[in-house]
Amino acid sequence: MARILLINGPNLGQLGKREPELYGSTTLPDIEALLLHQAKALGHDLVTFQSDAEHALIERVHAAREQIDFILLNPAAFTHTSIALRDALLSVRIPFIEIHLSNVAARETFRRKSYFADIAVGTIAGFGVTSYELALTAANRWLARGGD
Ligand code: DQA
Repeated sequence: MARILLINGPNLGQLGKREPELYGSTTLPDIEALLLHQAKALGHDLVTFQSDAEHALIERVHAAREQIDFILLNPAAFTHTSIALRDALLSVRIPFIEIHLSNVAARETFRRKSYFADIAVGTIAGFGVTSYELALTAANRWLARGGD
């Protein structure tokens, strides 16, 4: 049993209403419910957190130290800007997967830069809600193999 934290960054609380042609019609509570269900089936404990505020995300990462085994993170727009959130993840040394609903590599050039990709276990992008499910599947296998 692992303790897994799902973190969603700014504007992701607006999923369902926000640019549905890009991000789909599923709401964040729906995604969280899906992942809670999947985690339970895999025998893991999953907690969720969303904030639009950089400092709140950083504080949640700090609070995860020694409490959480793995983080699933969609940093949203902070992906492309936040050295501070990157430093928080480096500080707690909790392995994480970077998640995106959209295929960030196929969008504006500024979205190609990620402050997280090089310190993440891996990145999953472009599959909509399935990106989250794939990330949890990958985290489960990574944990089962003892971090390999
Ligand atoms: C996003 C991609 C980011 O570039 C964007 O700022 C978001 C959502 C995604 O899930 O596709 O807010 O992280």
